[in-house]
This record gives sequence, C-alpha cells and structure tokens, in this order.
Amino acid sequence: MPKEVRISPGPKPRIQIFRPLPICGMTKGARAIFQLVSTVNASFITYLRKTIFPDYNPAIGKNSSETVMSSPVLQRAPAAERNKAPILETLKTILPVPSNNEKLQILEIASGTGQHIAHFAQSLPQVEWQPSEVSSTSLRSIEQYIAFYNLKNVKPPLMIDIVKPTGEWPSPLNSPQSLDAILCTNMIHITPWTCTEGLFSSANYLLKPGGLLITYGPYSVNGVLTPESNVNFDAGLRQQNPLWGIRDVKDLEQLGAQQKLELHQRFDLPANNKILVFRKVLYIHWLRETMCTV
Ligand SMILES: C[S@@+](CC[C@H](N)C(=O)[O-])C[C@H]1O[C@@H](n2cnc3c(N)ncnc32)[C@H](O)[C@@H]1O
Repeated sequence: MPKEVRISPGPKPRIQIFRPLPICGMTKGARAIFQLVSTVNASFITYLRKTIFPDYNPAIGKNSSETVMSSPVLQRAPAAERNKAPILETLKTILPVPSNNEKLQILEIASGTGQHIAHFAQSLPQVEWQPSEVSSTSLRSIEQYIAFYNLKNVKPPLMIDIVKPTGEWPSPLNSPQSLDAILCTNMIHITPWTCTEGLFSSANYLLKPGGLLITYGPYSVNGVLTPESNVNFDAGLRQQNPLWGIRDVKDLEQLGAQQKLELHQRFDLPANNKILVFRKVLYIHWLRETMCTV
C-alpha cells in the first residue's frame, strides 16, 4: 500500500461535458430522463478522469483533512510513459550485479516528472537511486512519486544544475568516485551544449572507475540524422532555442574521450531513440590512449 501523503489536493482535473439543469415543475417522466442522463453523465466523467488522469483519486477533496493517496501534482509526461519500459529493459542488460550485497549507487540527472525513476526503482531494487532536477516544480513531482509508491530505494531529490561544477552541488553528491552509474534521459538535445559538457565532466568526477554514464534520446550518427521525424524535431528544437538540438554520437564520443569516458555500448530503442553507454576508464588507460592519439 502506498504511504499516505498529506498534501494540498491542487486543482481537480476539469472535464466539462453536458450537465443538464433541473427544471422546476418537471413531470415524472422528464425527471426520470433527467436522472438517467445525470447518472450516465457522471459515470462518463469518472471514466474520462480515470483514463486521462490514471492517478486521480475521486476521494480527493471529499474529507476536510484532504488526506489523499494521489494528487494531480504527480506530473505525467506521455513520452516518459511510453519509453520507460524499453529503457528499463535495456538498463537490466547494462547494469552490473552489485558486489557484497551493496546497492548500486545511481544518480539521475534531469529526472523530470519522476515517472522514470519511480518505474525503474520498483523493478531494480538492487539500486539506490538519487533523483535530481533543476526545476522546483519537477522536484515536487518527484517527491510525490516517491511518496505515492512508497519507494524505499529512492533518496529525496536534489536540486542540481548540471552546468554548475560538482564542488557547488549538495554535499551528499560531491565526493569523487562514489557512483556506479549516472543516468540522463532526454536532456542532451533540449539544453545548450554546456549542459552536456557539465554532464560529462561531473561523470568523470563522480563515477567509480568502470562506472557508467547512460544517456537516452535521439542522436545523429556521423552527421546523419534519420528519419524525417527526427530531422523535423531537430529543426523545431533549434527554432525554439538555437543552442538546443540533436547531438551527434561522434561529438559525444570526443567529449567523452576528454573526460576519461569511452563509448562502450550503443542500443537502438523504439521511436528512433538510442541509449549510449560511456564507461569511465582507469586513468592509466586513458593516459595511454591519449598519448597514442597525440
Ligand atoms: C525533456 S525533459 C526530460 C525529463 C526526463 N528525464 C524524461 O526523460 O522524461 C528535460 C529536463 O531537463 C531539465 N534540465 C534543463 N536544464 C537543466 C540543467 N541545467 N540542469 C539539470 N537539468 C536540467 C529540465 O528541467 C527537464 O526536466
């Protein structure tokens, strides 16, 4: 049972459809028809609410205490709902088995709504998850997901702006070589390149040797972006912000090489997205590689 959370219910999801008004002096027959329409209408509204807002709990607002099991504060991104299953299946093949019964330590950068981490944490109990976000609205949503699913293996989310150096991050996260993996989904193309630079340099600092930086999103390969839908998506992103845009795997590989992160695995996922797995190499290997390429 999810733990009860005492929160403000927020606005009730609004769905307005035909709602007949009672007319004074109705005949018996008219009243019966009115009641029938009202009942069907109410059931239909409940059905629509449940379909559009699956977390919506009709008990919200009924008690004066406003104790609820769910809340519209739980944000729901349709894309995250679609891609969470294939990402999870890929994570299962990527993540190492923890040693000595210790949990794997994984930081998620740009956790968004919290849908992903809530989904992954339930299926991967061998991991201790640390969500993070730069947006305070998202931080609240992540907290709600943790409470709603009573997730014991997810730490409270931290405010992290990925462009800031790790030295300025909240204290549980600024110790070097402390993480087994960093996960970052759908951030690289929707932020300026400086965010990607921040992601890779913090991964270099925070990952243990052999640790993984796992990124998910659309990418071009050797300058070629396919299919047409991704080309249009990229154009739309750049129109919104000229500093955004779908990145090339080669550019990420180059950035990785500067930060002791080698591209280790690449997976094709549905909807023309990919998962890239960078592995932190030992300093001595990195030095040898760097010397050989100079
Ligand atoms: C498209 S959303 C992806 C959210 C989630 N990872 C997902 O896949 O559904 C991009 C996220 O990047 C976050 N973001 C933008 N700039 C950031 C920054 N400088 N540091 C950390 N996160 C940032 C935004 O707040 C937003 O939640």
